[in-house]
Amino acid sequence: MHVLHISYECYPFAKVGGMADVVGALPKYQTALDARASVVMPHFNRDWDQYGTLESVFEGGFHLDWEYIRFVVLRHPEVEGFELYSVGIPGKFDRPEIYSYRDDVQRSVAFQRAVLTWLSAMDAATRPQVLHCHDHHTGLIPFMAAHAYEFAELNRIATCFTIHNAAYQGAFSWDLLRLLPAFHGDRSGLLDWNDAINPLASAIKCAWHFNTVSRGYLDELFHSGHGLEGLIRSEAGKASGILNGIDTAVWDPASDPLLEVHLKRSIDVFKRKSKAEVCAGTDLDPKLPIYLFIGRLAYEKGADMLASILGDFMSHYDDVQCIVLGSGDPQIENKLRHLEQFFHRRARTFIMYNETLAHRLYAGCDFLLMPSRVEPCGLNQMYCMRYGGIPIVRRIGGLRDTVEPLSESGGNGYVFDHLEINEVRNVLSASRRLYQDGKQMSKVRQRNISIDFSWEHSAKQYLDTYASLLA
Ligand code: GLC
Repeated sequence: MHVLHISYECYPFAKVGGMADVVGALPKYQTALDARASVVMPHFNRDWDQYGTLESVFEGGFHLDWEYIRFVVLRHPEVEGFELYSVGIPGKFDRPEIYSYRDDVQRSVAFQRAVLTWLSAMDAATRPQVLHCHDHHTGLIPFMAAHAYEFAELNRIATCFTIHNAAYQGAFSWDLLRLLPAFHGDRSGLLDWNDAINPLASAIKCAWHFNTVSRGYLDELFHSGHGLEGLIRSEAGKASGILNGIDTAVWDPASDPLLEVHLKRSIDVFKRKSKAEVCAGTDLDPKLPIYLFIGRLAYEKGADMLASILGDFMSHYDDVQCIVLGSGDPQIENKLRHLEQFFHRRARTFIMYNETLAHRLYAGCDFLLMPSRVEPCGLNQMYCMRYGGIPIVRRIGGLRDTVEPLSESGGNGYVFDHLEINEVRNVLSASRRLYQDGKQMSKVRQRNISIDFSWEHSAKQYLDTYASLLA
């Protein structure tokens, strides 16, 4: 089985969100299961040399509206665990950021057409059997592979599309149809949603199979799918929910190179020492519980409510502390800066993206708060549990599927339904009581650290899905 993952993000080469972690891990586990799994991504402006030497494997070009696009496909032979390729398109991807440019549509179409041009020039025998596309930046591939005249050679390659977040659909005006290669006019409905070209909708229509990153999220999309619920329901026959795993080699408390303290025998000792390191660096009190938030400071993550939730909690109890790490909406960033000023002894905010700090904070925190409005899977709750922390999450999407509410008989964390101050304060107060009962706290930690979140199971589910498409 040979699958090619096509994605804008892949950890550690380019990361904005959890999709990068998925695309950087899943192929490794598929390779370990004897599949041949490769990744192709844009050649963003990065310090690629640190990942070894590059080799040019293909050069090509095509007309994109009034421009002639020249591109090169580079192979990165020294990446461990899977084959990595990047597509260099001068003028389009040699820029510092991954997203948010005025010509994002031209960039993504150019990338997708370059990938398909490269694949059609390949010998049929060496071509991948499955194209696995991730999110809307690669959403036009299933359509173009099946219907564009110039890619006719590719129309029998199976396509699988993963929705990491249906809120972003990449829709653009029909005026830009000229960016796409020629296809039979009666197929244009396969691109359309609400009178625009909608790459996410098109992928749902054209991919041989599509999936969400948790079963819970798929169920939600049937009813509330950012305007696509009708389409998702009508295409449900070829949909599945496949829960993400985490890269347990990268996220290993016993050997993580980004940590200062490693797990030996006792989870309690690991947490105590890791917390002491965090407190030494942040001037917080190691005796009091630490509540952590890590993530994009965005409305969908409930980050706009963070300052109120944490401020309210810290006003009620003077023995709780919090740390926030993330960046995003400037207004939310400001609110969190004010929170730190107001509770200067008990609140720390790091307005940045910092992978090393993130690993150390997961290790040193007691609780992780995820008040997301939307969470297709969520990986942070798994990282937190893997490092012995206790998540406090909204009952939604993948959070519902991965965090079992604490009860007399078991469970892993706290779950609440509404993003509402009183309700959240109630679960936070319950967690504070748990913290005061050292023995119970230790039990939950022990339980969380032994959960198996590895990719093995889901990597196999994806391979089975491809196999059923090829059968
Ligand atoms: C997106 C989703 C997140 C998911 C990740 C990886 O970032 O918001 O919930 O875990 O993709 O699939």
